[in-house]
Amino acid sequence: MKDNNLPKGINRREFLQTSAKYSASAILATMGVSNLFGAPRSPMVSTIENVTLNNGVKMPILGFGTLYLDGALGEKCVADAISLGYRLIDTATIYNNEEAVGAGIKRSGIEREKLFVTSKVWVDDSGYEKTKEAFETSMNKLGLDYLDLYLIHRPRGDVKGTWKAMEELYKEGRIRAIGVSNFEPHQIEDLVNSGDVRPAVNQIETHVFFQQPGAHEFLQRNEIQLEAWSPLAQGRNGHFTNQTLAEIGKKYNKNNAQVSLRWHYQRGIVAIPRSSQKAHMIENLNIFDFELDDADMNTISKLDLNRTQFPEWE
Ligand SMILES: NC(=O)c1ccc[n+]([C@@H]2O[C@H](COP(=O)([O-])OP(=O)(O)OC[C@H]3O[C@@H](n4cnc5c(N)ncnc54)[C@H](OP(=O)(O)O)[C@@H]3O)[C@@H](O)[C@H]2O)c1
Repeated sequence: MKDNNLPKGINRREFLQTSAKYSASAILATMGVSNLFGAPRSPMVSTIENVTLNNGVKMPILGFGTLYLDGALGEKCVADAISLGYRLIDTATIYNNEEAVGAGIKRSGIEREKLFVTSKVWVDDSGYEKTKEAFETSMNKLGLDYLDLYLIHRPRGDVKGTWKAMEELYKEGRIRAIGVSNFEPHQIEDLVNSGDVRPAVNQIETHVFFQQPGAHEFLQRNEIQLEAWSPLAQGRNGHFTNQTLAEIGKKYNKNNAQVSLRWHYQRGIVAIPRSSQKAHMIENLNIFDFELDDADMNTISKLDLNRTQFPEWE
């Protein structure tokens, strides 16, 4: 693998060591074997690399999305994901599942500091006062006393008031990093020019059918981490049966989801796939034992349709 196919800060030797541990762990995990390689509750925990955000905080490059996972199912899925080795858990006020996510975290028994928990302030709570209240409500629902990452969910309403509240919470140590979601470059520039704290993350729709090369380049240039939402396009546009991805996957004995997630990883993008099925959660973690070569990356770049697959959310 060429070094430019690896995320920034990860060298080839570490990559190979990680890959070997990871494939053994993934196989054993499917057999119900755990407590390997020194990790207390999961064989995989030490193997998901971090990216370093612009304030020095480390964030796992692969995490778990929770949209639509609420109630008892949400609690179970979050607990399962953590037991398998996921450490980044992504939720939001608008998902109406912060209580379930909190219950899943508690049920997992993991120490708080081993997790990276993200939530998002919704449009209805925009503005200084409302954001402060929304944050406390989220914390109560989650049963946590700090967040690792808090994002403005959409660039709507009183964004500057929202950001001011988030900056204060960040400076008080209630949030380890603050960022945005669904922001265009010019909206980020506005925030950077008016605020004190630079956003650490922009979480945007990114998958093989909407690759966002322009936004990616802008964010890299501004030291803001791109985090991909719907990294598997929610299966839209025939993602899971796409022939191009399947042909590439066949060479490595991987499925379309794994090829896609590997592609995000090699671009240095944080991905947060969601699954309600343990077998899929395991598959989605098992992406560190193969590498897409330049030809594969080039072939995948041609799948870009350069438009959202979620027009109803625009
Ligand atoms: N900031 C925002 O505006 C925003 C917007 C959307 C999403 N998000 C975040 O991003 C996360 C991920 O996006 P998403 O939930 O929309 O979609 P996604 O992760 O792209 O796709 C989820 C779908 O893929 C299926 N799947 C997962 N792994 C699979 C596998 N290995 N093989 C086959 N099918 C698989 C799941 O079904 P099964 O359950 O059957 O596995 C589910 O239907 C969300 O959960 C949420 O946390 C943020």
